[in-house]
Amino acid sequence: MGAIEKDLASKDSLSTLVRYENVTKRFGDIEVLKGVDLDIKPGEKVALIGPSGSGKTTIIRMLMTLEKPTSGVISMGGEPLWHKKSSSGKLVPADEKHLRRMRSDIGMVFQHFNLFPHMSILRNVTEAPIHVLGLSKEEARERAVDMLEKVGLGDKLDAYPEQLSGGQKQRVAIARAVVMRPKVMLFDEVTSALDPELVGEVLEVIKDLAKETDMAMILVTHEMDFARDVADRIVFLHDGQIEEQGTPQEVLENPSSERLQAFLSRFLRN
Ligand SMILES: Nc1ncnc2c1ncn2[C@@H]1O[C@H](COP(=O)(O)OP(=O)(O)OP(=O)(O)O)[C@@H](O)[C@H]1O
Ligand SMILES: [Mg+2]
Repeated sequence: MGAIEKDLASKDSLSTLVRYENVTKRFGDIEVLKGVDLDIKPGEKVALIGPSGSGKTTIIRMLMTLEKPTSGVISMGGEPLWHKKSSSGKLVPADEKHLRRMRSDIGMVFQHFNLFPHMSILRNVTEAPIHVLGLSKEEARERAVDMLEKVGLGDKLDAYPEQLSGGQKQRVAIARAVVMRPKVMLFDEVTSALDPELVGEVLEVIKDLAKETDMAMILVTHEMDFARDVADRIVFLHDGQIEEQGTPQEVLENPSSERLQAFLSRFLRN
């Protein structure tokens, strides 16, 4: 590689936070991801849409290190997630220590919030900053209160999860993930288990966060209006492959593939 190419390559790694390169995933005989290439820039907000079973959750679970790719490479800040470089420069499978270090840049909110039921809301949010980041109790409390205020729960610090609505619990789960200041936040259909009247408040909180944060976000969603508002880019997944991607305007107003057109028309009919 010449000096110029090297320079370009290093600039490229600065402008890319997360990179999937020809990533496949098999479960037994079924290939659920068939060679995914996807780059996410620092701070970029990407909505992932597609039919049920197209592989959306699998894509983000692999980044969360919950699921291992069958082949291909996922990297984060230029460093492979599931591999590390051996002393001879070859990529070898990563050990738990490497995964743990890489994971600290990644936060996730699931469909089901899984709060610690025996801890107050405040403690739910301070636990990881204290025990994982090693912050003092005071620092952790300050950060947590700040986050809980941002998600509209500044008056619920001493409440317990069972005293909150589903929407409030999901907002605690968001605060608990964001308080760790990851470089990328993953949201997997975080409103799909909520009663319809609670969906709006949670989407609003995520939209506000997206506007004011420099964290990148990958948001799996079936809410097209939300995707339009929150995302810089929408990626349409079909049958384990990226079928089409572009700005919300391009993807939602002017879809070129027939599959995307059919997918979107199902939403418009509902
Ligand atoms: N642990 C697993 N074992 C076997 N098959 C799996 C496993 N996890 C996912 N799959 C299969 O992989 C495919 C993709 O699943 P995935 O959960 O990624 O889809 P999705 O796009 O998130 O769908 P949905 O919109 O319903 O959440 C599906 O056919 C699913 O049945
Ligand atoms: Mg899913």
